[in-house]
Amino acid sequence: MSLFLKKPLDQLIAESSDPSEPTGEIGLPEHGHGLKRTLGAKQLTMLGIGAIIGAGIFSLTGAAAAYYAGPGVIFSFVLGGILCALAGLCYAEMAAMVPVSGSAYAYSYATMGELVAWIIGWDLVLEYAFGATTVAISWSGYFQSMVTKTLGFHLSDGSLRLTKGPWELVTLSDGSQVHGTFNLPAALIILGMVAILYRGMRESALVNNVIVVVKVVVVIVFILLGWGVVDRLNWGANPDATGLSSLVPAPATIMREGRPLDTYGWSGVLTGAGVVFFAYIGFDALSTTAQECKNPKRDLPIGILSSLAICTTLYILMSLVITGVVPYTKLGVPDPVAVGVDKIVELRGWSSSSSKLLGFGVKLGALAGLTSVMLVMLLGQTRVFYAMAKDGLLPWFDKIHPKFKTPHIATLVTGAFVSVCAGLIPLTLVGELVSIGTLLAFVLVCTAIPILRRTQPNVPRPFKTPAYFIVAPAGALSCLWVMSGLPGDTWVRLAAWLIVGLVIYAFYGRKHSKVRAKAKA
Ligand code: ALA
Repeated sequence: MSLFLKKPLDQLIAESSDPSEPTGEIGLPEHGHGLKRTLGAKQLTMLGIGAIIGAGIFSLTGAAAAYYAGPGVIFSFVLGGILCALAGLCYAEMAAMVPVSGSAYAYSYATMGELVAWIIGWDLVLEYAFGATTVAISWSGYFQSMVTKTLGFHLSDGSLRLTKGPWELVTLSDGSQVHGTFNLPAALIILGMVAILYRGMRESALVNNVIVVVKVVVVIVFILLGWGVVDRLNWGANPDATGLSSLVPAPATIMREGRPLDTYGWSGVLTGAGVVFFAYIGFDALSTTAQECKNPKRDLPIGILSSLAICTTLYILMSLVITGVVPYTKLGVPDPVAVGVDKIVELRGWSSSSSKLLGFGVKLGALAGLTSVMLVMLLGQTRVFYAMAKDGLLPWFDKIHPKFKTPHIATLVTGAFVSVCAGLIPLTLVGELVSIGTLLAFVLVCTAIPILRRTQPNVPRPFKTPAYFIVAPAGALSCLWVMSGLPGDTWVRLAAWLIVGLVIYAFYGRKHSKVRAKAKA
């Protein structure tokens, strides 16, 4: 039987109002039975910003500037913003048409068949589970900075080794460097999130709005305070170039984590776009709220595009300030914004107490912001696993807790996996893997739009991608272009991940698929 067997679209749409769908979600409105159309454009924009601003800006910008783009990282952000706007419009059409748990996995089951759906579902683990891992490592970086630099606690050498994974270096009290053992704060924060998700808690729009306001205020304060003390010499990364090109350092070979890396130049900007693309992930979660929008046709594109526009503007300004106050070569750290704050305070000649206060505020904002992103990502992962298990492609994960009505097995397994990964894997490695995995999902969603317009022209579409014949291919091609700029070893890891997935599909999913069983009957 064909590997491209499709799940009938009407079955998928019927499932979107299935009362047994899990409820009690966090950060996003409740799905399943009895949906209320409560969301307007403003709330959607707030929700979008809540899911978007996180480790990308607070951590990965530093690595993208230090290792790939220099101050030219602002171009990486522009590229990322355009690409996400194109993909976002395609997501909005899909989600408004098929608003079910499982996001891109579910859409592709109906459009491109089981094998592609499996590949997407497996690939989404890179986005959500490894995305949560990345954010947890970033959270740990800010937490350590808060505990040691801001609050002034002294960590023993033994404790210091428990702040980084075995592939990262820790500086001990005597200045020597050794490999870490396990990133304990990162692992523990994930377990904390899992405890909340296991029980289920309906986060009110108010809590989300407060977190969003805190995050945005922190970013704006940082930009305002930093702007006045920017050293323009830091922006002139390439003194031989003129105009905006001078922001992009000339091609060079540098050392990264002990290995030589050919980088910089405009190809470095492209690679940087792949890295900072992570900063935009989250707007796709917005698309799953289509059924709760008062007027999805109008509000969903407004919500997606305005949250992307606001975040792109903030990201560009923020990266200009960071690279303007700290030389880009010094930004390859987990907490570049904290490094930037320390530098701003030093340049302004402020007292150590105001430095502490400012550092405290920024780090607290970063910690709160990162926490909400982690919740949304872990939530997304459990719902994708739930959807795959419901289709028979994975075991156990469709079990719903009798009291809490959450997919508890999926939550526990995801939590244990992410927690161990967060303890062991280095930030840069996992961040790039998340970017490539998500870009692949975007390529497939953009590809599905024209396919569905042809094969299913009559299905109601509350929102239609404008000029889809241009937007969808442009979205897919620009994602592929940015993917092409990511380092070769990230591609190898993506391939290895997909091969593992295909083996699991061959030995389990194919044999237990419910759509396949139904087609045989
Ligand atoms: N965009 C989210 C972040 O940067 C995933 O943390």
